[in-house]
Amino acid sequence: MSEVVVRPMRPEDVPFAERLSAASFLELDQRTLPRSWPDPVERPPGRAEKWVERTLSLLRTDPGGCWVAEVDDRMVGYATSLERELMWILASYGVLPDAQGRGIGRQLLDAAMQHGRGCLRMMLSASQDPRAVRRYLLAGFRMHPQMYLTGTVDRALLPVVEKTREGSAGDIDLMNSVDRQTRGAAHLSDHEVLLRQYALVVADAHTGSGYVYHDAFGSPQLLAATNRRTAAALLWEALAASDPLVNVDIAHVTAANPWAVDVGVAARLDLHTAGYLALRGMKPPAPYLHHGSLL
Ligand SMILES: CC(C)(COP(=O)(O)OP(=O)(O)OC[C@H]1O[C@@H](n2cnc3c(N)ncnc32)[C@H](O)[C@@H]1OP(=O)(O)O)[C@@H](O)C(=O)NCCC(=O)NCCS
Repeated sequence: MSEVVVRPMRPEDVPFAERLSAASFLELDQRTLPRSWPDPVERPPGRAEKWVERTLSLLRTDPGGCWVAEVDDRMVGYATSLERELMWILASYGVLPDAQGRGIGRQLLDAAMQHGRGCLRMMLSASQDPRAVRRYLLAGFRMHPQMYLTGTVDRALLPVVEKTREGSAGDIDLMNSVDRQTRGAAHLSDHEVLLRQYALVVADAHTGSGYVYHDAFGSPQLLAATNRRTAAALLWEALAASDPLVNVDIAHVTAANPWAVDVGVAARLDLHTAGYLALRGMKPPAPYLHHGSLL
């Protein structure tokens, strides 16, 4: 094979990196999902746009964390990462299916992890790909299996939730405080991106504080709270935004967050497992449901 060149990602690379990411995850699903499952589908345009917006934002805040690999001037892989308050996070990582298993992923991960060399704590949301898992184990990560709950929500099952309200940019300081208490590092400018992409619900009472970002169909995207009761109330509030005819997913639930399983089961959702929360130098955050790439 020709020489592999690993170089910093540039803004003009981002749309191609998004397509590369979509292709590598589609092939992964085709390779690993049980045959009894519905056929894997292409990433829908709305999610692709969010990926591009998030990655352009990372290029502004963390240019040293974002890399591409080229062979004969053709992009064959990429890794994007960020550093927030001495925590390093791998945001996204992929190599074209026909170039996998030849060491390109290792070179990309090494380059991205250099960005976090001053960080004692590291986290990433790992796919079920044995190649990815092997890379992360060799890089010193511990794997925490993740559950997810899925199904439609019967509105008759929704409890009355008090002490929550719609959130806004004025809540970023509060959310950063909750992040520091739960995850050990604030999301800082990532909250501005999340606010543009999702709806926000906040709890700010003497009994507990927290927040949840959810998509238009009620699936939580990131949730943090100072106690389990507040976390459960916020999760119910996200589910209340769901359409009874559209599936919701409560994803990225580690064993440290049984309160989320309790809510999902009470909402009559089905429980499955998928992928890992990979951590170095820290325990699984709780009460917390991480974002897949901004963690
Ligand atoms: C994860 C990914 C980026 C790694 O890139 P890559 O170029 O394949 O990685 P590398 O070749 O450097 O490393 C793969 C490792 O897995 C091993 N491997 C290859 N095929 C394997 C298989 N079928 N099962 C288990 N291990 C395998 C390789 O030998 C190598 O280990 P080694 O360095 O000890 O020899 C790439 O496989 C990918 O895009 N996967 C699909 C998307 C994905 O899962 N992204 C990560 C999201 S968290």
